[in-house]
Amino acid sequence: MHKVLFVLSLMVTQTVWGMDLPDADSPAARLFAERCSACHALPHPKRLDWPHWQHMLRVMKQRMEARGMAMPQEEWRVIAAYLRNHAR
Ligand code: HEC
Repeated sequence: MHKVLFVLSLMVTQTVWGMDLPDADSPAARLFAERCSACHALPHPKRLDWPHWQHMLRVMKQRMEARGMAMPQEEWRVIAAYLRNHAR
């Protein structure tokens, strides 16, 4: 049973981190994966449509600033463009 759970959790991790992330090897995908998994599991770009991502990014900006993890504007721009391209 434990072994099954272990394999399952590996599959989930790979889905989020690996092949399933669009353009997984691009700098934008890497930046997104790094910045947006600091507090919770990385959300998949297809999870939301672009209007909802725009809202969510504003909320996350506040959360990150409140925790002293403010990101440069340029990084927000890259992550927003990535999510816009790959949104639901
Ligand atoms: C400073 C910590 C922090 C960082 C960094 C962060 N988030 Fe969040 N995020 C939260 C918290 C807190 C919540 C609400 C509680 C939860 O769902 O875990 C949340 C929730 C979310 C949700 C809703 C999750 C759900 O279950 O529906 C999404 C989507 C999301 N974040 C996207 C992002 C994206 C995109 C980034 C990168 C730009 C990011 N987060 C970076 C703290 C953070």
